[in-house]
Amino acid sequence: MSRAKTILVTGGTGLLGKGMEETAPGSVALVSVHQRDYRIPGSAAEQLVLDLRDKRAVDALFAERKFDAVVHAAGIASVDFVETHYAESLESNIVSTLNVTAACRRADIHLVYVSTNAVFDGTKAPYRETDAVNPVNKYGRLKVECERLVQETLKHWTIVRPILMYGWNHAETRPNPATWIREKLSKGEGVSLVTDVHENPLFNLQCGRALWAVLDKRPEGIFHLAGGERVDRYQFGVAVAETFGLDASLLKPVTSDAFPGIARRPPDTTFVVERMARELGVAPMTLREGLAAMAAGA
Ligand SMILES: NC(=O)c1ccc[n+]([C@@H]2O[C@H](COP(=O)([O-])OP(=O)(O)OC[C@H]3O[C@@H](n4cnc5c(N)ncnc54)[C@H](OP(=O)(O)O)[C@@H]3O)[C@@H](O)[C@H]2O)c1
Repeated sequence: MSRAKTILVTGGTGLLGKGMEETAPGSVALVSVHQRDYRIPGSAAEQLVLDLRDKRAVDALFAERKFDAVVHAAGIASVDFVETHYAESLESNIVSTLNVTAACRRADIHLVYVSTNAVFDGTKAPYRETDAVNPVNKYGRLKVECERLVQETLKHWTIVRPILMYGWNHAETRPNPATWIREKLSKGEGVSLVTDVHENPLFNLQCGRALWAVLDKRPEGIFHLAGGERVDRYQFGVAVAETFGLDASLLKPVTSDAFPGIARRPPDTTFVVERMARELGVAPMTLREGLAAMAAGA
């Protein structure tokens, strides 16, 4: 970045926000928003507690502070929670995005909206940024609506679609497949993992690097953010066990019909990451490279 900038990251305490904070250029002032009443100890970001569903609070924040750009990552991101708590999830995702986009439009600020691979139905992988969306669950439908809101109401925007993300999360926020599987295996507990859902998973620090490149270059359009290796969830679990020296025989390969109560997943949303590599200069990392970086403390 050429000069000191103040960047607002909504949902800054989540896995993506943590990846951004840990890869932030030294010259940037990071302002982070989350909703519940806690603080992340030792964070370099200025942490604000604010409910983005509250339009007056959002408007007041943008009236008081000047931001060079905004990354909007906050919202309910659990696919199964959204499926069973739809009204609450609509408010969290749609109302918050409406409030943030309105504030960015009035102040003429570039918004980077964080979407998802769940916008696709998973039947035509690998997916490029130009492929048609067709979500199969409520979470995917909400994210498609938020993408439309951004595209149709803002002049200056970028949409990034991270795929399944892994990395060290803050203790205050939800676990991800790597930390969850590691925790279960460390306790000697068995884990059933599906062999019929595929992605090329993304290390959260790589996601952070890609977002900083977006903030630097301000390209308009959509970017797929993913890793360099397509795996199913069982293969993911085996890689976690091997990286952390845990017992892979506790992992049981199953198919999705073993979990009839959860939201439908698109079977294969593997991304083409050419645009990320070429335009953002972020090389896709294999799952084993990302897990090795985690094991080394990254
Ligand atoms: N994780 C993945 O694998 C993945 C994959 C694809 C796309 N994404 C997208 O990436 C984004 C970030 O995901 P993540 O995994 O980093 O999220 P996360 O770990 O679940 O964290 C969510 C963040 O949003 C905040 N938040 C939620 N509702 C809020 C509200 N009403 N007002 C203010 N803050 C609110 C949370 O604050 P509190 O902790 O205070 O509640 C937290 O900081 C999401 O948009 C998600 O859809 C994630």
